[in-house]
Amino acid sequence: MTTIGFIGSGKIGGTLARLAVDAGHDVVLSNSRGPETLQDLAAQLGPRARAATVDEAAQAGDIVVATIPLKAFPEIPAGPLRGKIVIDTTNYNPDRDGRFAGIEDGTTTAGDLLQEHLPEAYVVKAFNNIFFKHLATLGRPSGAPDRSALPVAGNDPTAKTTVTALLNTLGYDTHDAGPLPESRRFAPGTPAHHAYLNPAGMFTAPGRPASAAILKTLLAAAAPAAHDGPAVYGATDEERRLVETLYRAVGGEPDLLDDVLAPGWEDIPSAPGQRPGPAGLKPIIEQFHTSFADAKVVLHDIIGSSGRVAVRAELTGIHRGEFLGVPATGKPSSITIHEFHQINHGRIVRTWHLEDLHGWLQHAVNQQPMSRRFIG
Ligand SMILES: NC(=O)c1ccc[n+]([C@@H]2O[C@H](COP(=O)([O-])OP(=O)(O)OC[C@H]3O[C@@H](n4cnc5c(N)ncnc54)[C@H](OP(=O)(O)O)[C@@H]3O)[C@@H](O)[C@H]2O)c1
Repeated sequence: MTTIGFIGSGKIGGTLARLAVDAGHDVVLSNSRGPETLQDLAAQLGPRARAATVDEAAQAGDIVVATIPLKAFPEIPAGPLRGKIVIDTTNYNPDRDGRFAGIEDGTTTAGDLLQEHLPEAYVVKAFNNIFFKHLATLGRPSGAPDRSALPVAGNDPTAKTTVTALLNTLGYDTHDAGPLPESRRFAPGTPAHHAYLNPAGMFTAPGRPASAAILKTLLAAAAPAAHDGPAVYGATDEERRLVETLYRAVGGEPDLLDDVLAPGWEDIPSAPGQRPGPAGLKPIIEQFHTSFADAKVVLHDIIGSSGRVAVRAELTGIHRGEFLGVPATGKPSSITIHEFHQINHGRIVRTWHLEDLHGWLQHAVNQQPMSRRFIG
């Protein structure tokens, strides 16, 4: 049996301590106010539980659970946690925690922040996507058909194996979501964060079991990280390669068009006098680059089904030459585009496209000096 130290003994900590005691583990509870404020909880949990200071709980635990408001993580003592597994249940809640810009812009996660604070501990993210009342009730014996899986994320595979074994004793399977940055896939605001909530009742209804297979689907549905590139739904690797290469071509490598467009490629609607195939698009790309410096295409979504691929993207660049009759503004500029590509035998044979030129015009005209904004 394991001794589990708790830094934080509130709703999640207290619930986990109950599950742990019932499974035969020892628990050492702590909070910010001191052990005397935890005597009642320890008494309710029985002889396997005792209250202690944060340092004592960190020292006593074979495994330690950090289950406090995120803003308090700098107060967790690093020394006694050296070499230990620390299960991190925290969620970012700006109303409670204040702003963490890195979490908001997707460059870090709550778990990564704790890992940086505890460089010699093995942080494993777990229990942060289940409501404490559901955590108390959804546990099942191993092999039960309605047993739920909880996602875990961490940089150390051995630590995740140990946490998986612990969760098994508490009534849960696990699903390995990957290293700590992947915990963003079950952070607040993601589909997996609601994995065990019944939409008809949410926090007031009983929890809904979710298997590892369900979790896998929900984790995959999380929006891509800022650095991940486009979100890809349903497109094959070949379809993705074709459209990404096409947009690289538009972004300034027009010769790549010969690799991806069929010789008779149709552009719908086509520009006046535009020829079919790569030869028809190359002058349009050149023209675009004379109007926009540093022009490139930012892909947001690639959605594929049966030889058709839909793309949501943006053309960006510095408006340095006349475009649609609007003189250069010298300002960063962006045109939203939506396109459907038909693919046949490894080439794009037809493209239906729609650019938000009206939106661009409105924006560009607003950048002009007042004297140029109005006709007559
Ligand atoms: N509630 C849920 O269903 C749920 C579900 C998943 C994840 N979470 C996340 O898990 C974490 C804990 O949530 P909770 O609902 O259990 O919160 P809670 O009920 O408010 O409990 C927080 C615990 O942390 C302790 N604490 C605060 N600052 C501390 C510090 N500096 N040192 C030691 N202990 C400290 C508190 O002790 P004092 O009372 O003495 O200050 C309290 O025992 C949060 O990050 C939350 O977002 C919550």
